[in-house]
Amino acid sequence: MRNLLAIPFIMAASLLVQASDIESLAENKCGSCHLIGEITKEKLNRMAAPPSWALAKKVKVAYPNRLDGINFIINYTLEPSEEKMLFPKETKERFGLMPSQKGALTEDEARAIAEYILDK
Ligand code: HEC
Repeated sequence: MRNLLAIPFIMAASLLVQASDIESLAENKCGSCHLIGEITKEKLNRMAAPPSWALAKKVKVAYPNRLDGINFIINYTLEPSEEKMLFPKETKERFGLMPSQKGALTEDEARAIAEYILDK
């Protein structure tokens, strides 16, 4: 009985680990340009793209359906282009077009990151 009671705690703990793993994955793969996770002065200074919450907001307005939003982020991450951009022209003038991240992450990783960004 004691062991049975422990199961939900272990499951909750492993979910937490997964969530923080995805946060560090997102920071690793996208955080060099996008502001992701904990905000620090150092991160603000090297910001080279719109912050992740701005991405989430734009994507949610353009794609109210969550799955469409996730697919847009995956697609843009692998094949960015000016025609696909949701942000205005000024964003590209300020930061340049996002370089493709193809090869830097798997599609599964891109999906996990897309979900993480939309949930923030
Ligand atoms: C080398 C810098 C860099 C990295 C790394 C990077 N991005 Fe970007 N990203 C940009 C820039 C610059 C923009 C703004 C211009 C644009 O939209 O292309 C942008 C824009 C975006 C947009 C919005 C596109 C639009 O205008 O609709 C999404 C979504 C996005 N990035 C997702 C990601 C994800 C997810 C990752 C990590 C897997 C990532 N980016 C990694 C530079 C980067």
